[in-house]
Amino acid sequence: MAMLKPGVLSVGAKHYDRRLFDELIPLPEGTTYNAYLVRGSRATALIDTVDPEKESVLFDCLTRAGVESLDYVVCNHAEQDHSGAIPAVLKRFPAAKLVVNPKCAEFVREHLLVPAERMHIVQDRATLDLGGKTMEFIFAPWVHWPETMLTYLREDAILFPCDLFGAHLAQSETFVVDDRLLLDSAKRYYAEIMMPFRAQIRQHLATLSGYRLEMIAPSHGPVHRRPSLIIDAYTDWVSDRVANEVVLPYVSMHGSTKRLVEVFTDELAVRGVEVRPFNLTVSDIGELAMALVDAATVVIATPTVLTGPHPLAVSATYLVNALRPKTRFVGVINSFGWGGRTVEVLNGMLTALKAEILTPVTVRGYPKEADYAAVRALADGIATKHTEMV
Ligand code: FEO
Repeated sequence: MAMLKPGVLSVGAKHYDRRLFDELIPLPEGTTYNAYLVRGSRATALIDTVDPEKESVLFDCLTRAGVESLDYVVCNHAEQDHSGAIPAVLKRFPAAKLVVNPKCAEFVREHLLVPAERMHIVQDRATLDLGGKTMEFIFAPWVHWPETMLTYLREDAILFPCDLFGAHLAQSETFVVDDRLLLDSAKRYYAEIMMPFRAQIRQHLATLSGYRLEMIAPSHGPVHRRPSLIIDAYTDWVSDRVANEVVLPYVSMHGSTKRLVEVFTDELAVRGVEVRPFNLTVSDIGELAMALVDAATVVIATPTVLTGPHPLAVSATYLVNALRPKTRFVGVINSFGWGGRTVEVLNGMLTALKAEILTPVTVRGYPKEADYAAVRALADGIATKHTEMV
């Protein structure tokens, strides 16, 4: 528990040893479920709750803060890591109303079985005056669900954006203490959760530019006393700027694809193109996602298995397509034994990207001189396109 400003407390939970989110996303630094208590002269509100697994931590904090009653519980986002404790909170505080927008009302009814009579439904830019503490609700759909909203505390100029600007980073300090660590963690979070919604985030950043922000208090990770750190990072990540980089997810069964990857990596490097190879048998998909944030090009390298790509390459390609990075060029390097449809299958999986498809390199068996020439041609083409792009 920590004070952000007089009358504003952080009352959420840290989950240092959680290592997987949504049974999908690695959490090397754990995570937090931040909830915030706002006390006005007339009423008290809780902004977001915690994952049900950490419900007791939230209740301990509220007890230590001397909270005997709550007037409002704000649900910025209905995903259960923030909303899962809402039923227990509403039960403990029977006078409390759940502040939701109309879309979120649907979600909490369906997912958490909250009855309509407990809800206080707000529209975009509506306000609630707690007595010297005015909460304004700013609808921000698709960061990363359709119902998401941000809560702005006017008098204190604090933004509570729930997932937006968050980081899966558990640390004992409430506030950001290490800019580099924060930005790495926040970039991973952006890549995994927010990147598909780049266009919507741009709009939300434009909206927020009209607000004075002294503090950003997300519901994952540390609180920002210097909001420009994360706002500037997001402005860059959602921009159209791409870096002179190739992301190279690969898998190799008997060494042919690996040899092609080694040669391709060297050929790109000598042409001044940074390359990030990811051996898919051992890679953290969060690191792969992070690399996709800025890279101009993605090349997937895989052998053919049972007429198609190796399943690890299928999984990585599905992820690339789902995350919708700003990649401009995509390519395939394929080693096969006797045939198959690997290139067609992979290219057919990348339909969500607005990227130019490069001429693939397809190699039968172990690579030979003509195959190395094809790899060099692919590296040449990428280096030229990257130069033209800058
Ligand atoms: Fe942290 Fe979308 O929940």
